[in-house]
Amino acid sequence: MTQADITILGLETSCDETAAAIVRVHGDGETRQVEVLADEIASQFADHSAYGGVVPEIAARAHVERLDKLVLNALKNAELDWTELNGVAATAGPGLIGGVMVGVSTAKAISLARGLPFVAVNHLEGHALSPRLAEQVAFPYLLLLVSGGHCQFLSVKALGDYQRLGSTIDDAAGEAFDKTAKLLGLGSPGGPAVERAAQQGDPGAVPLPRPLLDRPNLDMSFAGLKTAVLRAVEAEPLTETRRADICASFQAAVSDVLGVRTRQAMKVFAGGVDPQNGLRVVVAGGVAANAHLRARLQDEAQAAGFEFIAPPLRWCTDNAAMIALAGAERLSQGPGDALDSPARSRWPLDERSAAERPVSGGGKRGAKV
Ligand code: KG4
Ligand code: ZN
Repeated sequence: MTQADITILGLETSCDETAAAIVRVHGDGETRQVEVLADEIASQFADHSAYGGVVPEIAARAHVERLDKLVLNALKNAELDWTELNGVAATAGPGLIGGVMVGVSTAKAISLARGLPFVAVNHLEGHALSPRLAEQVAFPYLLLLVSGGHCQFLSVKALGDYQRLGSTIDDAAGEAFDKTAKLLGLGSPGGPAVERAAQQGDPGAVPLPRPLLDRPNLDMSFAGLKTAVLRAVEAEPLTETRRADICASFQAAVSDVLGVRTRQAMKVFAGGVDPQNGLRVVVAGGVAANAHLRARLQDEAQAAGFEFIAPPLRWCTDNAAMIALAGAERLSQGPGDALDSPARSRWPLDERSAAERPVSGGGKRGAKV
């Protein structure tokens, strides 16, 4: 190991995936290399399927039951001893508070017991840095984070320097996929089921809105689309063909909104960076699995002269490797966090934009994202 090597355990428990990973970062600058030594994940899909959505209390309990085992498996699979770690990182928010507390408490306990620095990682920073797990993606880049919990554009300028360029003002795009699937009786997870059904459908068959596209900013909205799907479901008997047509039309509407907004976001991003450093757009989050959307984004990127990067799916969706990487990057630049740092249900990555232009979830606990 060279002087600059950092090996770190990362924990992720903010939603319905319990995960532990060990990541090693070698060197820095041009010679920087990232190695994922272990990447353990236990999905809670079965625990929540009967309820049609994630139940926070069930999620928190399942994290408690599974996390210890995953940590031990990570060490075993990485063939490492506790003494070979340089730190422990956990998602400290934003997310379901019960789950976040499980990860944060576990990481703090390990930190105390093993004398390791603790890093409180913002889950969104994990997603923002996730493309760097698989390849050398240089800063700056434009990130479209599109998952079940988030839908926003971030200008990732450098480690710790993130600017939110636009965001959904209500539902995340993945949430809209899940709700559409539920309305059509397609089960969960909704995204893949809608994509499958859409293959047999006509994307022009059901007129659906492209909300907010007439507004000059980069904000998005998916709640109205869900209501329009409900109306389409109620309008006619749900034959197999009708179902497929609704899915194809819905997928086309979401892809249009995200495609048009990405085109506009690339313009805004390009205006704020030195083009000599190259122009890159990354898509991350579970919805990035959608082939129709990916193709649309790729076309938009190509037309704008941007390189299009989509990390491998396992690091697009929630995982602990991205949390470990964010922790390692932070530790390479400074000390860890205090053991009294809180678990936070809300934690905007770009605090300034969230304060100046809150798009959702204001109120007592502050802006959500
Ligand atoms: O990133 P993720 O695993 O979890 C978070 O929400 O953070 O994303 C899950 C979301 C779900 O809403 C799921 O329906 C959606 O990603 N999704 C998809 C596809 N696969 C997963 N949406 C559209 N098409 C897909 N193929
Ligand atoms: Zn996530």
